[in-house]
Amino acid sequence: MGRDEPETVGATADMGAGSYPVRFEPMAVEVAVSRGTRVYDVAMALGLPLAQSCRGEGICGRCGIRVKRGAEHLSPEQAPERMRKRSNRVDADLRLACLSTVHGPVVVTTDYW
Ligand code: FES
Repeated sequence: MGRDEPETVGATADMGAGSYPVRFEPMAVEVAVSRGTRVYDVAMALGLPLAQSCRGEGICGRCGIRVKRGAEHLSPEQAPERMRKRSNRVDADLRLACLSTVHGPVVVTTDYW
């Protein structure tokens, strides 16, 4: 599978309605995911080294991602995510991958990739 041909994560097998590209930089890995897929699940399915110690339970606050494009296409940040970020001293500009779902095209990275 070439870089121009996105892999698929989740239930949708094409880029039709309800399927959106998620691109991870700087690896330039892009996959098509179903609406509502967690960024955390995409990264894990691809084997990307996303920090975490709670297996995506929204507890550890380590899965912070920086959204380079398409922040408006992630689920809005809710109180539990804000609280978890505050209690774990996570940069307010980051989103927690396990509490962020995809609703349109996004490009993300981390500060350690
Ligand atoms: S993986 Fe622990 S808060 Fe996201």
